[in-house]
Amino acid sequence: MCGIIGILLQKKGLLSKPLGTAIKECLKNLEYRGYDSVGFAILSDNGLIIRKSKGKIDDVVSKLSFDEFDGVCGIGHTRWATHGRPSDTNAHPHTDCTGKVAVIHNGIIENYLEIKDLLIRRGHVFKSETDTEVIAHLIEEYKKLGFSPYDAFKKAASLLKGSYALSALDLDDAGKIFFARNTSPLIIGLTDKAKFLSSDIPAFLEYSRNIIVVQDDEVGYLSNDSVVIEKLVDKSYEFDKNPATAEVVNYASRIRYIDWSPEMARKGGYPHYMLKEIHEQPQAVSNTLISLMNELGDVIKLLSKAERVLIVGSGTSYHASFIGSLLLNELANIKSHAIISSEMRWFVNGVNSEDVVIAVSQSGETIDTLLAVREVKKRGALTLALTNIIDSALARESHLAMYTRAGPEIGVAATKTYTTQVVSLALIAVKLAEYLRTVPESKLSELSTELRELPNTLSSVISASEPKARALSSIVGTKHSMYFLGRGLGLPTSMEGALKLKEISYIHAESYPAGESKHGPIALVDDGFPVAFTILGDEVDMIFSNVEEMRARGAWTLAVMPKGFERISKHFNYVFELNRVAYELAPAVYIAPYQLLAYYTAISRGFDPDKPRNLAKTVTVV
Ligand code: M6R
Repeated sequence: MCGIIGILLQKKGLLSKPLGTAIKECLKNLEYRGYDSVGFAILSDNGLIIRKSKGKIDDVVSKLSFDEFDGVCGIGHTRWATHGRPSDTNAHPHTDCTGKVAVIHNGIIENYLEIKDLLIRRGHVFKSETDTEVIAHLIEEYKKLGFSPYDAFKKAASLLKGSYALSALDLDDAGKIFFARNTSPLIIGLTDKAKFLSSDIPAFLEYSRNIIVVQDDEVGYLSNDSVVIEKLVDKSYEFDKNPATAEVVNYASRIRYIDWSPEMARKGGYPHYMLKEIHEQPQAVSNTLISLMNELGDVIKLLSKAERVLIVGSGTSYHASFIGSLLLNELANIKSHAIISSEMRWFVNGVNSEDVVIAVSQSGETIDTLLAVREVKKRGALTLALTNIIDSALARESHLAMYTRAGPEIGVAATKTYTTQVVSLALIAVKLAEYLRTVPESKLSELSTELRELPNTLSSVISASEPKARALSSIVGTKHSMYFLGRGLGLPTSMEGALKLKEISYIHAESYPAGESKHGPIALVDDGFPVAFTILGDEVDMIFSNVEEMRARGAWTLAVMPKGFERISKHFNYVFELNRVAYELAPAVYIAPYQLLAYYTAISRGFDPDKPRNLAKTVTVV
């Protein structure tokens, strides 16, 4: 929801640029997490320098003068507002009454009002409407009670309820960056010259690929000669004078090498990350297939014994889950349902130890999905994470973890992580079908060949669809509302197409099962109303009657469908005719025209597809 960065250098100038510039660049890499305000704090020779403002980094760069400030120790923040509207005052960092403590935070402090009241009674004066500011004053208060700056920070962290990844500088212990985490992601990056702290790996990839994922209830600090991590135990949440209890963590075995290159996290000549990530899909799919092909043994055995397989996810990850559940039913004859993560609590009574739950999440940090996993674990279900982020909370909290190999995805709209999720779930279904002998050999061999060919097929479809999507965007860009209809596996593909269009071009887009469209949605259809049909192959004749129903009401119709069905394709106003792909694998390929259409429509309407309004890449609030 917000992005945080901390940089600690062995000595000034080691990054060959002022510290302020390095913080600005790292924050640019994190801007997809929130971009309504930005700020930083640097411990300089002249004390603690704080600059902050409402607005995106590029818009306030001259106002904040990042490049003019140097030092060895600094923190920065890019905000997605939760408490208090975007404003200069509500931007982070937040300070205490003395101006010595600066705090940045990603998450939500649930008990901040209670703490704020207590601190106000003790004479503290608050400047912002944020929940974060209480942390700075809490640290100040504990220092007044005789705690060292680090002990005060630790105690403050131990009083917080809710989600947080936070970092603080304190002039009374200059040269340290304090940090703490509960639920919101926080990663440490290590090099010989510098140490980093960030909400996500791409922020510091240019400098470091050796990382430690900070875990829940951990606190610590970066200093010139050490990284200290402790685990808070027996959190009482009481404002008392006892020091926080914490145990030192030996993190040596947790240092990981990340094989993402800095180039992967840059735009590489594309105008936007989203377009670059759409084009990276063939490679991402290939990497995912290669890495999963040899890692699925345990997963297949586990799933083959399940009474039922539930698949949970949010947003785009839910659409991939939906495809996964249909494939498990269809190919492996396994009872499977997809459930939206935030709805799991109303479904959980029926879950038991015979169930296996697959949790799908690009970030591995979506709180709705994490909560769903915690709920089903309580009921005895085995859990399996499918995520793009190594050691993410979801991977750690699930019994088994599998990884998509999409590389860093910066655009807020998920594209390559979606295709890799779909392909991973399709591969699982095919392997299960092979293990359980639920489909004939000939079908298995067709699917295996096509799976191997998928990166090439996707590549041709992207190239062929791009000019058409660009041309079509000038028509779609003038519409106010649009339907996306499909049957079977075409339905989740349509749902994803609609989500892409609405989230970045702000055109109302709604997906419906094609057969269901005559039970209500058709009432809105009149002359020129746009309706897109996703046709993957098997359902082509069934869906045609729905096309005719829409055309009879004057709808402007678009189809994403395989080549070779001229008797049907000639009836649409516009058609993306794509290479034929086995019906079961087509969702991984047939989404590409919709991604490109959404991208070019957003551009034609003058919107930045990488930073859609009101959205954040990782959603850590319920
Ligand atoms: O990180 P996750 O996959 O768990 O994120 C889930 C959704 O927030 C995400 O897919 C969202 O819908 C995307 N912005 C869609 O493009």
